[in-house]
Amino acid sequence: MSTAIAVLGEFESSGQPVGHHLPAGVSALTPMFGESSGGTGRADVIASSGATLGMVGESSVMRRVLDRVARVAPTGASVLVTGETGTGKELVARAIHAGSPRAKRPFVRVNCGALAEGVVASELFGHERGSFTGALERRKGRFELANGGTIFLDEVAELPPAQQIALLRVLQEGEFERVGGTETLKTDARVVAATNRNLDEAVREGRFRSDLLFRLNVFPVAMPSLRERKGDVALIAGHYARQYATKLGKRIRGVSPSAMAALVAYPWPGNIRELQNLVERAVILARGEVLELADFELPDGPAIPRSDTEPADERQSIEAALRAARGRVYGPDGAAESLGTAPSTLDSRIRRLGIDKFAFRAGRRN
Ligand SMILES: Nc1ncnc2c1ncn2[C@@H]1O[C@H](COP(=O)(O)OP(=O)(O)OP(=O)(O)O)[C@@H](O)[C@H]1O
Ligand SMILES: [Mg+2]
Repeated sequence: MSTAIAVLGEFESSGQPVGHHLPAGVSALTPMFGESSGGTGRADVIASSGATLGMVGESSVMRRVLDRVARVAPTGASVLVTGETGTGKELVARAIHAGSPRAKRPFVRVNCGALAEGVVASELFGHERGSFTGALERRKGRFELANGGTIFLDEVAELPPAQQIALLRVLQEGEFERVGGTETLKTDARVVAATNRNLDEAVREGRFRSDLLFRLNVFPVAMPSLRERKGDVALIAGHYARQYATKLGKRIRGVSPSAMAALVAYPWPGNIRELQNLVERAVILARGEVLELADFELPDGPAIPRSDTEPADERQSIEAALRAARGRVYGPDGAAESLGTAPSTLDSRIRRLGIDKFAFRAGRRN
């Protein structure tokens, strides 16, 4: 046995993830299944500042990350977000902007990895009319557009050496020139950079300037992989199952026990993006109201259990269900319901495995 007809909790009336409309200074995590904690009926206030923009996660690693995000957001310090692909680096960058006094000013994203070397400077700093073939008009660069707001330098490790120097200068002096221009312009843009590369290694190999790394890395935020926070798999799956069910006009009650066991066991190399995509596909494929194992087209791998009776996964799925249900076994929002088992059966399994269900009461156990 393992997790769950993971009951999908009440949908937000706005249809938006919790966190979108939070006043500055409030940060929320979203309990997706079962009852929500606290008096708001939907949000679990964990930190004192910074909005989290629909970031789902209650594991202790995720709480620590969101706490750091909440603390750095209002400061204006440069932030370097690192992590594997699909771990939420861009979401965090947006949360930092949203939780800052610059929230009403522009958030400007530059994908440093997608720009041809010849256009990076013009994209970042703009150009004057006639500065190169095709420059028919004067054009503002991203740093100018981000003035007063935040510039998000995505895949910053891909920046060519010449632009690394120019970037260093903007960071140090807030000054730059447009391509083909002589006028020195000023900008006040808060910098958030992201990379899935190891920048220390890039510095050692001479591909990235160490002085630029120091400037960018005033405040590091390391996004955990989904493998490091498997306790969040059920929450995130439920969040997206509900979202896509609504979008597709389907009624989906939850995820079958064997499917949830497989989701928890899978190593998620593409992290949250991969989970999100697989859930969307499962919602499309589902014939009934429960997402079955066959609906999740999980790539084959040794970590995926063949049945829902794999003992190794039993503890993990029971704990995930208890966490989602905040320690409650009985009742419509209880863990037994979400696991599709009789409460008495679940209770005896909990005793046999020596799990302390009370530890999940206030979301204390992660
Ligand atoms: N904590 C979370 N809760 C719910 N959804 C999330 C969370 N983190 C990320 N996502 C979703 O996962 C997807 C990938 O997130 P994002 O684009 O921020 O990742 P990334 O780290 O920038 O990936 P890449 O390195 O591939 O650019 C997005 O659709 C995002 O909304
Ligand atoms: Mg990204």
